[in-house]
Amino acid sequence: MIARQKRVISESEKRAVRIMTLPSTKIVVCLRVRHFFQYLIESWQKHGQWVKWALVLVLLCFSLLPSSAYAADGSSQKNLLEFWRQVFLRPSDGAIQDKVSTAKPDIVTLGERLFGDTRLSGNENRSCASCHDSSQGFSDGRKRALGLDGFDLARNTPTLYNVAWGKSFNWDGRAASLEEQMLGPLLSKKEMAGDFDEIVPRLKADANLSRQFARAFPENPIVSQENIIAALAAFERTIVSPETRFDRWIAGDERALTSSEAAGFKIFVGKGGCVACHSGWRFTDDGFHDIGLLLPVPEISAVEAGKKGVASFKTPTLRSVRMSGPYMHDGSLENLSSVVDHYSDGIEIRKGLDALLQRNLKLSAEEKANLVAFLETL
Ligand code: HEC
Ligand code: HEC
Repeated sequence: MIARQKRVISESEKRAVRIMTLPSTKIVVCLRVRHFFQYLIESWQKHGQWVKWALVLVLLCFSLLPSSAYAADGSSQKNLLEFWRQVFLRPSDGAIQDKVSTAKPDIVTLGERLFGDTRLSGNENRSCASCHDSSQGFSDGRKRALGLDGFDLARNTPTLYNVAWGKSFNWDGRAASLEEQMLGPLLSKKEMAGDFDEIVPRLKADANLSRQFARAFPENPIVSQENIIAALAAFERTIVSPETRFDRWIAGDERALTSSEAAGFKIFVGKGGCVACHSGWRFTDDGFHDIGLLLPVPEISAVEAGKKGVASFKTPTLRSVRMSGPYMHDGSLENLSSVVDHYSDGIEIRKGLDALLQRNLKLSAEEKANLVAFLETL
């Protein structure tokens, strides 16, 4: 739990709190109204189908909701912070445990072992952990994942933090569950080239491991495809991003962030409009959006899952995001500065671009630095 100690608050820290709690009511209301009209005009230009109008209506409600929360707050700084606290507060340790520890500890331990076991791959040279490395935020530090043939795969390796809460998996959301998702890399000739007809006997030959299977699954005490999948998924669900300074800050410890980081938060929830998609304690809406990245090759993406344009991808969690660069589905943005530069100055205006995106953000160098500093606290 969060330890709070008493300390004298310095002037600069007081300033940080003041900056962050400036009444951003006006900014947010303007932003929402602008988004609303932008969207209205776009829909008008296309076609006046009732579906579009229904969407517009939903968007209108969306635009009024948070701003009315502000309006109700007036300039009360306390209430404003309280509002964001509701949005971002990390669940209690108990609630997190309830969510992730649905499987027995024996199953999770087995899953963790299998996650790093190269015997799951065709050439026994790769495991899940080869690409999802815990020391790199469960990613691999590469622009795009390395295929077995030595060439880059199509996509960047995403973090596995907080997948227990995920609604769909992969950048395009094509897998509905962790169990379904893992068959992709496991069986793909380019990723692990595994084959259960080989994997099962290979693991059975290891007496120690077989005993571990028997302990984990007493009702069905064998090495089997089903048990391998169940154990891996159980382990994946326990991968939760650690509590950070941001959590202490949003829970009420005003000294946990520097003034620059707190100013970054203000941009995130205000002018930057980032919170429109990166909301909740995981900083994701689990939705699919086109954020105007330059796409040299037409991408096959979330057409099915997100039912949007060709360039829509899943909003990633931003928890522990400092660890898992390069960023985006194609790894095209090297570091957090390049991400912020993209949102500020690099968005390609095109059909399908998400209406919730700030189109002409143009942050100053200082604002960019603050936003990056904030992202690094997550
Ligand atoms: C060659 C590198 C590589 C290996 C090996 C690998 N992955 Fe991945 N993983 C990726 C890439 C790349 C993606 C994104 C795929 C996409 O969007 O099309 C991904 C996506 C995922 C996701 C989706 C995460 C999300 O938030 O949507 C999960 C879960 C996952 N992998 C688990 C595993 C498991 C379990 C294994 C082992 C059985 C594994 N991966 C092996 C590279 C790899
Ligand atoms: C319209 C919804 C939306 C808004 C608004 C938005 N994002 Fe994103 N964000 C996404 C999506 C979707 C992706 C993944 C896009 C892709 O890979 O094609 C993403 C990716 C990211 C990533 C990369 C994470 C990773 O693991 O690769 C970071 C960092 C990020 N956003 C920060 C921000 C910041 C900062 C802002 C505000 C300036 C912002 N986002 C505004 C939807 C949004």
